[in-house]
Amino acid sequence: MRILVLNGPNLGRLGVREPEVYGSATLEDLQTTLRADAAKHDIDVRQTNSEPELMEWLYEAVDTGTPVILNPAAFTHYSYALRDAVAMVTKAGVPLIEVHISNPHAREEFRHTSVISSVATGVIAGFGFDSYRLALVQLTRN
Ligand code: DQA
Repeated sequence: MRILVLNGPNLGRLGVREPEVYGSATLEDLQTTLRADAAKHDIDVRQTNSEPELMEWLYEAVDTGTPVILNPAAFTHYSYALRDAVAMVTKAGVPLIEVHISNPHAREEFRHTSVISSVATGVIAGFGFDSYRLALVQLTRN
């Protein structure tokens, strides 16, 4: 099975960006970990700072029926356009799990709102890279 692991703005800076919040590992480290966890599967890790590009990748998930692990980063909190694209994925019956490295609910108030969660299949937050690994367990069970 192919799984898209899509990451939004500033996540390309993992490792140097606020390591006290996000840790010191990089996006490449994340890819290595996920590929080791799910060697039987095709794990496609991508990152963009561009909202339209992220939306195009979600259309790709719909058109190819590919499950998604999505860290929408700051788009989580305000992007209705991204929300509508996520709804297209899940309404097509394709699972999409929203993940966060940190626990946004334990941080600034603007992070307490997710416009994505109500259209995601599920949400995992606060476990560092293990948030992605747990999402992968869910998508690859049985
Ligand atoms: C994040 C949390 C968001 O609030 C923030 O804007 C991010 C990363 C996380 O993974 O913890 O960029 O999605």
